[in-house]
Amino acid sequence: MTADAPINFRGRRLVVFGAGYIGAEVARQGVAYGLRVTALTRNTESARALAAAGVETVVADLATPEWHTMIEGGADFVLNCVSSGGGGAENYHRSYFRGMASMLAWACSGSDKIGTLVYTSSTAVYPQGDGVIVDEGMATNRSDDRAKVLVDTEEILTALANKTSSPSAATRWFILRLAGIYGPGRHHLLDQLRAGATELPGRGDHRLNLAHRNDICAAIWAAFAAPPAVAGEIFNVADEGAATKAEVVAWLSARLGVPTPPFSGKAAENARRAVTPDRVIGSDKIRRLLGWRPAYPTFREGYEGVCPIGYHVKVAGDMRP
Ligand SMILES: NC(=O)c1ccc[n+]([C@@H]2O[C@H](COP(=O)([O-])OP(=O)(O)OC[C@H]3O[C@@H](n4cnc5c(N)ncnc54)[C@H](OP(=O)(O)O)[C@@H]3O)[C@@H](O)[C@H]2O)c1
Repeated sequence: MTADAPINFRGRRLVVFGAGYIGAEVARQGVAYGLRVTALTRNTESARALAAAGVETVVADLATPEWHTMIEGGADFVLNCVSSGGGGAENYHRSYFRGMASMLAWACSGSDKIGTLVYTSSTAVYPQGDGVIVDEGMATNRSDDRAKVLVDTEEILTALANKTSSPSAATRWFILRLAGIYGPGRHHLLDQLRAGATELPGRGDHRLNLAHRNDICAAIWAAFAAPPAVAGEIFNVADEGAATKAEVVAWLSARLGVPTPPFSGKAAENARRAVTPDRVIGSDKIRRLLGWRPAYPTFREGYEGVCPIGYHVKVAGDMRP
């Protein structure tokens, strides 16, 4: 984390809904940048850790109105980055759609509007494959029930936030459609290799579109700091790598000094899709309009930090350097 804020945020107020991997990091960075930060979480342990870092916390379920009177309206910056973290379609609907509806009701209930509202959606809204470069103007997907929840959630946000008459939720909004998140403490593929996987589920010939945690946080700050003329935009957030999964696995295996496992060709038991679409998520727009550039342009730079050469590999229950 860097303490170099893109603009002077000191003394401004930030509310974060969904203090998970990204949300908690942005909350901590907000404190370092001198903001007054409030985070809503369902999790008392997360609340304790955030409070220790100087974040005001509210423990509640975003989808209910129980917290509406506990968080003051009219914040300069609001981030909604809840994720259902798995579970079925009902969990998805509760966290994303009902969570957003509740947040918008809160935002519209006070006399002061939110300044800038950022919502982290997902590139899972896109159905495209066949190697195309996907930009923000392309069609989204309502045939998949979870993608539909994400698209519906984006739409209630844009409908309410765009209202010119009162009550409207925010002076301006941005939707960031994030690629696959990885970074410190989140590296599933690396964990599988470290655990000695001899075969990986699925296929390796589709491109993995990734974004490092720190670059996602930087994109969120860039949206908060956007010039006043930039408003109401959807941005893809992905690195420049778009390497195939097989390339990533081969690189990590070489780095760990383990044989590269083959792919089974069969989807993992918990996989939502039999075949992951092969495409490149284009993020030219956020570069152009917000000047965002990934500090980790490919998975190689990103994994340098989390997988240094010679890192411990688990072998037969033993750990060796
Ligand atoms: N993971 C990816 O690769 C990926 C890819 C594209 C986009 N995204 C998007 O990126 C954003 C950030 O993802 P992340 O990885 O930081 O997610 P995460 O670590 O799973 O954290 C999500 C947080 O949302 C909280 N949450 C969910 N429903 C809630 C509710 N009803 N009330 C209060 N809190 C609730 C969860 O709380 P609990 O701990 O209580 O469950 C969790 O702390 C999400 O919007 C996600 O959809 C993720």
